[in-house]
Amino acid sequence: MRLPDGFLEELRARTPLAAIIGRRVKLMRSGRNWKGCCPFHNEKSPSFYVYEDGYHCFGCGKHGDAVTFVMESQGVNFREAVETLASEAGLEVPKASPEAAQVEQRRTDLQQVMQIVASLYQHRLAQPEGAKALAYLRGRGLSEETIANFGLGWSGEGRGQLSAAVARFDVTPAQLLEVGLLRESEDGRAPYELFFNRVMFPIRDRDGRIISFGGRVLGDAKPKYVNGPETTLFPKRRTLYALDRARVGARQGAAVVVVEGYMDVIVLHQAGFTGTVAPLGTALTEEQLAELWRISPMPTLCFDGDAAGQRAALRAADIALPKLTPEKSLRLARLPPGEDPDSLVRKQGNAAFQKVLDEAKPLSMVLYDLLAAGIGTTPEQRAGLRSRLEAAAAKVEDKFLGTELKRELMDRFYDARPKRPMNGAPRSRQFNGKPVPPPVPITRLLPDADLAASHRSRTMVAILLNHPDLLADVEEAFAMLPLSEPLSGLRDAMLQWSSSAEKLDSAALMNHLHRSGLMQDAMQALSAVPVPLPECAASSAMPAEAESGWWHFFGLMNPSRLDEEVAAAQRAFADSGAEQDLQRLVALRKAQYRLQAGLVDWGDGRDDDE
Ligand code: UTP
Ligand code: MN
Repeated sequence: MRLPDGFLEELRARTPLAAIIGRRVKLMRSGRNWKGCCPFHNEKSPSFYVYEDGYHCFGCGKHGDAVTFVMESQGVNFREAVETLASEAGLEVPKASPEAAQVEQRRTDLQQVMQIVASLYQHRLAQPEGAKALAYLRGRGLSEETIANFGLGWSGEGRGQLSAAVARFDVTPAQLLEVGLLRESEDGRAPYELFFNRVMFPIRDRDGRIISFGGRVLGDAKPKYVNGPETTLFPKRRTLYALDRARVGARQGAAVVVVEGYMDVIVLHQAGFTGTVAPLGTALTEEQLAELWRISPMPTLCFDGDAAGQRAALRAADIALPKLTPEKSLRLARLPPGEDPDSLVRKQGNAAFQKVLDEAKPLSMVLYDLLAAGIGTTPEQRAGLRSRLEAAAAKVEDKFLGTELKRELMDRFYDARPKRPMNGAPRSRQFNGKPVPPPVPITRLLPDADLAASHRSRTMVAILLNHPDLLADVEEAFAMLPLSEPLSGLRDAMLQWSSSAEKLDSAALMNHLHRSGLMQDAMQALSAVPVPLPECAASSAMPAEAESGWWHFFGLMNPSRLDEEVAAAQRAFADSGAEQDLQRLVALRKAQYRLQAGLVDWGDGRDDDE
């Protein structure tokens, strides 16, 4: 249910953040703020800061507000966190309508049904009738603890027992039909059971409520797995197996990993890879990806090492591309041929799977290889590839990211240009017997490459035109940027103005540029042509967003200088404890984090080896 506008604002206003956090973490004063040891990662000296309406950890980068703090520290969902805070603040969370309450009640009843059936299956597993199933699970290396944690069970041998077995808990056949455990028969006989003679895997929603089951035969019969059908409880496209557990794992720092099978998930959790999930017998969907991005900015998708695995990776890339942003990305990992995660861990141990994860590559880096796989070098094939690459980049809805990705793909495309056949020894570069200098790398001449580079410079200038109060902070870094005309002329004028202006506001700056005859250039720098500016450059952007955006682009051009700026800002803040220095540090750290996490590593860093 959507909360009415204004409710959350009021809740935040009435919630003393330091008091909420202070119950979990010992806080001490730090200027106008508070600080303490971060509750989200292990540390001895405090780098966790609490200010008026948010917290930020300079160690692990976690930040948020009262609601996210309660969600994270108590492992509850948004709704529950809001309820908790509201009751403390003496506010009433607006109630659902009677109709909505009824729907809600029906859901709760059906979930209750699922819980009863799961308990029945678990019970059967522990009885003599479940002995074979239990032996099977143990034989696959599962511990008692794992079997219990995942709520694994045994369906029972034949059909026709489920209804009777749960009738005494007031579960009706109609309910069993609705949750997909019974199916209507076509020849008019009584509904029959979907699962019999199978090991049962409860499927849970992100909050841990059972919403369906998967069942596996003990031997090699087909089909190996049967999954419950789509029901009101079980939206298949949105559900990921073990997401409820992976959320907890991710909070504790585990990598979020997507594998293919139930058994893979279970074995990996048992091995300590507690951020693992799987889709349910289908290719990853857009909705599942959205769920993943709620718990990790860069989940790793794990694919088989064979051709089918590559096709699956390409499919996943295809659904991910439109939704990619600097904060939502993917890594792709490749299993050794013939192994699944379960067999790999069982045969070669945890380190072997850890290595697979370590070797995972950001989508932006492998996309070219995925798209170019198997494509030859005739002009027709090259032209076809080029349009595939362009089409892929065009799918990215984030305009700026799309431009960067296109540039990356085009660079790779021209780098992979077929070489002229060479006879014997490599030819030296000669013309009319005279040596000629090596050619300018083709990427330098590409309009796309130039476009992306000049777009970055222009964005940085635009941010400062809209947010000239940042000039004081970035002055030195801005002055050393390699800009060309007309941007360099604009810069000189802006820096000169900022050194003498009384107030650094946008109207005054524009006035100054107008008088200097530079208004045309300024308007051009601010225009949405040829490429729209990113949001952080808009005049409506929050100052903090504009600032970290500026450093982000700066870092793209000059990563090591960004690191120096961060270190300097850290020292400055340690010395002064001043709000202003804190703000600057947060902005810098945010930019640095995004770049380090490889969230946008399709930038200038790569030019070094050209
Ligand atoms: P796998 O056969 O790779 O699963 O299928 P697995 O978990 O590794 O199986 P075992 O137990 O080790 O042999 C991957 C996933 O595809 C779905 C299931 O979700 C399975 O976990 N699947 C597979 C089905 O839905 N039906 C099938 O018949 C087979
Ligand atoms: Mn397997």
